[in-house]
Amino acid sequence: MSLLKKLAKIILALIVAYAVARFAVVFYDSRLTGARAPYIQTLTPHSVVIRWMTEENQLGIVRFGEDPQLLSSIEMESSPTNNHTVKLDGLKPATRYYYQTGTISGFYQKSIERQWFYTHPETVQPTRIWLIGDSGKAGEIQSQVRDSALQWMQQNPLPAPAATDDDAAEKSPSPPVNVWLALGDIAYRSGSNQQFQESLFEPYAELLPNTALWPVYGNHDDRRWTYFRIFDLPENAEAGGVPSGTENYYAIDYSNIHFVILDSQASDRDKDGDMADWLRRDLAQNKKPWVIAAFHHPPYSKGSHDSDNTSDSRGRMQDMRENILPILEAGGVDLVFTGHSHMYERSHLIDCAYGDSQSFSLDNIVSGGVKNKSRQYLKPLNKKSHQGAVYVVAGSSAKVDQGSLDHPVHYVGLQEAGSVIVDVVDDKLTARFINNEGQVRDEFSITKQADYDGGYRGCAD
Ligand SMILES: [Fe+2]
Repeated sequence: MSLLKKLAKIILALIVAYAVARFAVVFYDSRLTGARAPYIQTLTPHSVVIRWMTEENQLGIVRFGEDPQLLSSIEMESSPTNNHTVKLDGLKPATRYYYQTGTISGFYQKSIERQWFYTHPETVQPTRIWLIGDSGKAGEIQSQVRDSALQWMQQNPLPAPAATDDDAAEKSPSPPVNVWLALGDIAYRSGSNQQFQESLFEPYAELLPNTALWPVYGNHDDRRWTYFRIFDLPENAEAGGVPSGTENYYAIDYSNIHFVILDSQASDRDKDGDMADWLRRDLAQNKKPWVIAAFHHPPYSKGSHDSDNTSDSRGRMQDMRENILPILEAGGVDLVFTGHSHMYERSHLIDCAYGDSQSFSLDNIVSGGVKNKSRQYLKPLNKKSHQGAVYVVAGSSAKVDQGSLDHPVHYVGLQEAGSVIVDVVDDKLTARFINNEGQVRDEFSITKQADYDGGYRGCAD
């Protein structure tokens, strides 16, 4: 045997050994073991799901109430487990509740300072949305992005809700973040339980007990089997919209906003597939004036992924652009958030751009009524279909990669770490990209005006 052949055999053996060892580590790390502090899921006007984990199998109990000194209501599990799920029902909307978790023999937490939640309102209230993208790499950048966004929010509070009375507002303060979205790739590199612990539960420990995280399914979350065992998502329209029958994609209503969370990774992306069918039915029933969509793979990106390259991410970017965007735009979508490219890209107000970057033209830019061509957009209040949407790629909440950032759809491209804060106050939406140093590096607004006619384009038919 020639020396070259011997060398090739050795290299092959090393590669196989590495792959086996790596799989074994991820398999071991994916077991749902160990203790995990309480976190909340599927928060709605009348219910919430409390999750936590314990070392041993136990019968979990939650006690809760509006008065932190008197948690007078109790819910418990029906059988012992180490991965606990307790749903609290029959709650009042727009109300702060406190809770404690434990077992029949006692409650774990002495302090419940972090353990509260604020049920979704049933009326229109100023709303703050925080979006993190590709956040799953623990480290300095992730902490800086988190801290700079939270600090900015603290320094720039939303106007207080039109409180029914001051006592109620004081007793039940609205939280700093009303809707928290993670745009996928929440735990690098393989979405194992241990990686979720290090990349999500530990760095976001202050927020998770009191702010429901609404996740988007990313390619790294899909590599192992943890995601659906740690998140409880509204497949039966518990939080609004039409039942999707799957936790892969779902809807959320909050105040005057309808959110659709889509799965660009593992679900059928065909225009006649189950997800497309659900999306059409969901958007057709929606009565909320604002529509925000989120999924992982960007329809337009020249970042660390190229949406023109049909073999990049196995064509998922192209599939979403060609098959799903027409449904979203016909359904009146205002804002579309994605991640996957580890940078920030933000489009003009555009419509009907379903081809590659070469086919994009100025005709796709919805310019009617624009006060400032690139930052302050107007849309009609009473028309929905094809009035323009802004597309945002925000995948730099834990790391930044390289890219040409020259997709013609986009007005802004930044190779910077950060996250996005969106404020919706009645008919005005303002979005800001806050970098890891706390600077506002992009800001734009969309205002919906009753006396503005817009310009129906009707291209999709
Ligand atoms: Fe990704």
